[in-house]
Amino acid sequence: MSRSHLEEIAELYDSAEGHVGNLIFDGQVHWGYWDERNADASLAEGADRLTQIMIDKTTIEKGQKFCDLGCGWGGPAVALAKAKGCYIDGITCSGEQQQNAVKKAQELGMDDLLNFIHGDALNMPCKDQTYDGGWFFESIFHMGHREALLEANRILKLGATLLITDAYLLSTASEDFKEHTSRRVHSRFMPKDIYPGVLEETGFEAVEVLDVTQYVMRPLAQKLKDACVAYREEILKLVPEEAIDDWLWGFEDFCANLGYLLVTARKK
Ligand SMILES: C[S@@+](CC[C@H](N)C(=O)[O-])C[C@H]1O[C@@H](n2cnc3c(N)ncnc32)[C@H](O)[C@@H]1O
Repeated sequence: MSRSHLEEIAELYDSAEGHVGNLIFDGQVHWGYWDERNADASLAEGADRLTQIMIDKTTIEKGQKFCDLGCGWGGPAVALAKAKGCYIDGITCSGEQQQNAVKKAQELGMDDLLNFIHGDALNMPCKDQTYDGGWFFESIFHMGHREALLEANRILKLGATLLITDAYLLSTASEDFKEHTSRRVHSRFMPKDIYPGVLEETGFEAVEVLDVTQYVMRPLAQKLKDACVAYREEILKLVPEEAIDDWLWGFEDFCANLGYLLVTARKK
């Protein structure tokens, strides 16, 4: 990935808004999952539920090596290591996220299992076939799907499970959204039907492509509004009032134009 694109992504997450995300999603920077079991859950609780769903889908075992490609502030990696006892290398292009994740692992006494790297997930500092499993947890749309999957293929062992959560462009997505979204959030969202073809082309077998739009995107805008009310005072220490409105508008735009997939693949 070009250095400037990587820096733009890092700046997005290191910005005051990025810190608001860390605050209201509670150490994670992914959206949530709400169904009849947890319809009243908060934004952070919904994000925890999505992490748990992903953990349940991994096949990683105690003592094996897992890669978290685009690891954010480290919340999902901590939860996975606690649940499975695996070793995890997490990578993020944000230096701030990486330092926070390292600190979190040390404070929890889990730095024997958790290693966080500041770098480019498209150029992992490791040999071929290093990992027994991995995931792109709401990060692949920043990287370019094909390039990201080719690098994942290089670093995963044969038969390893790769999980992906991916926001995809709805067929009704507006031209305006497509035009401004890459500029605003440095992401290239793709239509849903790139799967399973893009997996096959990059050396993966598609195990499951699950559309969970109704459990992720439908409730999201309201959950965010509620969280902005609940955390109002803390948010206002980070950003001015107008920024909250802008941010909420941005998420309404996401919810109107994006669907959400949980993808399970196996390296061939
Ligand atoms: C929406 S956040 C998700 C963070 C984390 N997976 C989570 O669920 O909390 C996207 C993450 O991808 C990271 N990222 C995007 N492109 C990257 C790249 N090429 N190399 C490393 N990290 C990248 C960002 O720094 C950020 O941490």
